[in-house]
Amino acid sequence: STTYPNTHRNPDFAKVSNSDVLFFRSIVGDNQVLTDDLDAYNEDWMRKYKGQSKVVLKPKTTEQISQLLRYCNQHKLAVVPQGGNTGLVGGSVPVFDEIVISIANMNKVRSFDEASGMFKADAGVILENADGYLAEHDHIFPLDLGAKGSCFIGGNVATNAGGLRLLRYGSLHGSVLGLEAVLPDGTIYDSMHSLRKDNTGYDLKQLFIGSEGTIGIITGVSILCPARPKSVNVAFLGLESYEQVQETFKKARNELCEVLSAFEFMDRGSQVFASRFLKMAHPLSPDDENEVPEYPFYVLIEVAGSKKEHDDEKLESFLESVMEDGTVADGVVSQDESQLRTLWKWRESVSEASTIDGGVYKYDVSLPLPKMYSLVETVRKQLGERQLMSQEDTGMPVVDAIGYGHVGDGNLHLNVCVREYNKKVETALEPFVYEQVQKERGSISAEHGLGFQKKHYIQYSKSPVEIQMIKDLKKHYDPNGIMNPYKYI
Ligand code: FAD
Ligand code: MLT
Ligand code: ZN
Repeated sequence: STTYPNTHRNPDFAKVSNSDVLFFRSIVGDNQVLTDDLDAYNEDWMRKYKGQSKVVLKPKTTEQISQLLRYCNQHKLAVVPQGGNTGLVGGSVPVFDEIVISIANMNKVRSFDEASGMFKADAGVILENADGYLAEHDHIFPLDLGAKGSCFIGGNVATNAGGLRLLRYGSLHGSVLGLEAVLPDGTIYDSMHSLRKDNTGYDLKQLFIGSEGTIGIITGVSILCPARPKSVNVAFLGLESYEQVQETFKKARNELCEVLSAFEFMDRGSQVFASRFLKMAHPLSPDDENEVPEYPFYVLIEVAGSKKEHDDEKLESFLESVMEDGTVADGVVSQDESQLRTLWKWRESVSEASTIDGGVYKYDVSLPLPKMYSLVETVRKQLGERQLMSQEDTGMPVVDAIGYGHVGDGNLHLNVCVREYNKKVETALEPFVYEQVQKERGSISAEHGLGFQKKHYIQYSKSPVEIQMIKDLKKHYDPNGIMNPYKYI
């Protein structure tokens, strides 16, 4: 990972002194002020970004966060809010010596109302724990993603995470009904009510959804949770072309309608990485061998509903029709819960698998569906021409450029998998990738945010007017700029 040169540190920010540390201890207690072994807080999940923070604070209450922020604001001490540190754009770790405020100790479920499905919890509850709690009440958290075992629901809201079932449950902008957050000056904003309708003034909570820690710290989340589907089934398909991926999606929307809950695609390259990582036979491998079959594209379809026979029948007749008319070349359907989980692994593990050779440059973009996969092909061509990647294993810096993602949301993940982070590769990719996305009026960040990685590139997706409005808001709520500096904008 890269440490950023200290010459770029903003000299307006104070450096943490002994008296600051004494103050922090008086608020959160000696044990919750960490000053040693801070690597896990300084380095991001991809091991791409590394900060040099000397202090991590772990408050237990909203009131403590309020006191900490008020003090930091008065003393011009920069802070980085941190959740599960699974973010993929370098937003969750400090750049220099910013103080990390981890919300890991704020991890209690506050309430759940079975009649309405309203769930209220501290922002530091781990996503998987929130979903586990809801499962006991026959409900589901309306967001699911590969990092569920580590990410926090507050981090999910702060990044406006999309995940694997946005197609079914929509974005957090719709499901989050209220938030509790602390503003940089210590003011506590509380909209933790559970009203589905409230047209009295601006919908202020929306400002925090996707704000990436730049205008305050989210401490509580109130979210509407759907009933848990009683039957879930997964099909894993092999296809001969990207056109067929689109055709299958069109047919799935038409024929599976209300039971369709996920439609994810992976190219062959991404399955090769998953195979190296999982070390098990590919679901479509005829001989139970570790070799990934030759289909250039794979699709995972999930159906979820309330009546098993009905849902299974729908899925079966859909598969029959797409295989009969040649849209889909091959496929398997999960026979039980354990097979269902295994099929999902071939999709969910691609993130982690793509880091196994050393590192990964990640591009998370929204593009019109018909154009989505061309970006991967264009980038492969660019890397080949620059002699950074070749078809044969010749030890070049780039091992492969792979594409996968949430077809249902028009969201492509392009991962350029490298042996090590390398300036030549980065220069070949940025701003090249963003220019390609801009040409199609896509978004350079579909769901991962801007963070540190994309702070110089927002203009590829937002107009000057929009950028000025964002800057004005930031300045209004954080005039000293202490919240997650050097990032976002
Ligand atoms: P962190 O990484 O700790 O922080 C992320 C950002 O939010 C930082 O800018 C941080 O300052 C800010 N922040 C965190 N908590 C707060 C808070 N309480 N108040 C204010 N600001 C805060 N993302 C998707 O959208 N879809 C996916 O499918 C997906 N899959 C993933 C799979 C894997 C294996 C991994 C590693 C990541 C994946 N991600 C995905 C990215 C990541 O998990 C999400 O962005 C997640 O929402 C981040 O949550 P976190 O608690 O880890 O936040
Ligand atoms: C995913 O969809 O798997 C995630 O957004 C994470 C990633 O792309 O690595
Ligand atoms: Zn994703």
